Amino acid sequence: MQQDTLGGIPVARIASVFEAERESYVAMHPRSLALAGHGIAGFYQGVPMHWMRDWSMPYPFVVGSAQGAVLRDVDGNEYADFCLGDTGSMFGHSPPAVAEAVARQAGRGLTYMLPTEDSIAVGRLLAERFGLPHWQVATTATDANRFALRVARAVTGRPKILVFNGCYHGTVDETFVRLVNGRAVNRPGLLGQVADLTQLARVVEFNDVPALEAALAHGDVACVIAEPVMTNSCMVLPAPGFHAELRRLTREAGTLLLIDETHTISTGPGGYTRAHGLEPDLFVLGKPVAGGVPASVWAFTDEVARRLDAVRSQAPPGHSGMGTTLSANALSLAAMRATLEQVMTHEAYAHMETLAGRLEAGLQGVVGQYELPWHVVRVGARVEFVCAPGPLRNGTEAEAAHAPALEQAIHLALLNRGCLIAPFHNMMLVSPATTVAQVDSLVSAFEGVAASLALALDSWQ
Ligand SMILES: Cc1ncc(COP(=O)(O)O)c(C=O)c1O
Repeated sequence: MQQDTLGGIPVARIASVFEAERESYVAMHPRSLALAGHGIAGFYQGVPMHWMRDWSMPYPFVVGSAQGAVLRDVDGNEYADFCLGDTGSMFGHSPPAVAEAVARQAGRGLTYMLPTEDSIAVGRLLAERFGLPHWQVATTATDANRFALRVARAVTGRPKILVFNGCYHGTVDETFVRLVNGRAVNRPGLLGQVADLTQLARVVEFNDVPALEAALAHGDVACVIAEPVMTNSCMVLPAPGFHAELRRLTREAGTLLLIDETHTISTGPGGYTRAHGLEPDLFVLGKPVAGGVPASVWAFTDEVARRLDAVRSQAPPGHSGMGTTLSANALSLAAMRATLEQVMTHEAYAHMETLAGRLEAGLQGVVGQYELPWHVVRVGARVEFVCAPGPLRNGTEAEAAHAPALEQAIHLALLNRGCLIAPFHNMMLVSPATTVAQVDSLVSAFEGVAASLALALDSWQ
């Protein structure tokens, strides 16, 4: 008899695996249950930030400490951490150079709204590393994107931005649009949304050059904002030649190009931009750039700076709409300097690349061994398994490839076997501190989960 399946696995089997893993989790986390399992008093929804409820665990475990690529909870469990704060700690938890810089700065004042000597070094390091000459520091990648888009609108005098369907660039209002049957709509689930965001944005599929050309032809797009590889749904790689076309078409249309490297910094020391010779007008990097201390950076070219100067010279006095009080504080600049000088090194990336390749091959081996209709995809140190055939070409395919109940069961089973992966999709990061043994333990945990899920296949087929 035909059964309902998800990712090729019978739904009933997924449910029973999830239930068994749920019981194991509860048995392994009595202290976390007592401390936070019924919600932490004082917090809305029982957690300091509501995303902490979005894991596959029945209740979040309480972290005791973390170092390198190891995370420990208050129940005494230890995890090989492949989530790494969803990229915030991509270079490992508390890299020694960052911990020292933070400790040093902690006794000298944390924020003064004035530059420090560290900022002199950081400006030079950023320009050398990424090749853009004009930098600003913000606190989150969301902020950096928001400010960069404001500059794009200011210098072009155009109202709209263009996003790729399925994108995520932080909580930037006008990026929350999606394609439904070829039409742009506001993303569902937004709270308190009063403006129709489709008035501010155009949306096309990634890798769709004719659609991009048609959208830009309206002449009202200030900026295309893009991740060079889409990493925020199931991972979508650019088709050969796509980035060259994106750059050619944006230039022809007088539209600026913003490359958001917040996740694709996994590619190499200069991000995907440097590794693949991209030529953005605007550039954003957040999350790990200060080793886990909240900070982000954004940048623009000489040409954009010249145009911005011209606009500013005509603007009446008043707030620019960019910047926040704690941005570029002394603590984050100290951490950023240490990260750029001592943590995001070529040697660190070489290690990450080798181990991520090993992880990719290991996971692919398991998928092949159990003949699962899944695939594995990677951009540098960022690896993802997708519970659907691949490769995926765009956001619509990526969304369709999601199998939430199956993914939840896998995540929880991996966790119970000592491996933590990112909660929102099946993303794993390899850090400079990650070991071969940790990678092999993840592959073997994945094999264990695949075996228990695939158990059903024989009896079913
Ligand atoms: C590509 C990209 N840009 C920006 C952001 C926003 O980062 P933050 O939440 O730190 O503002 C994210 C977060 O996942 C991201 O993936």
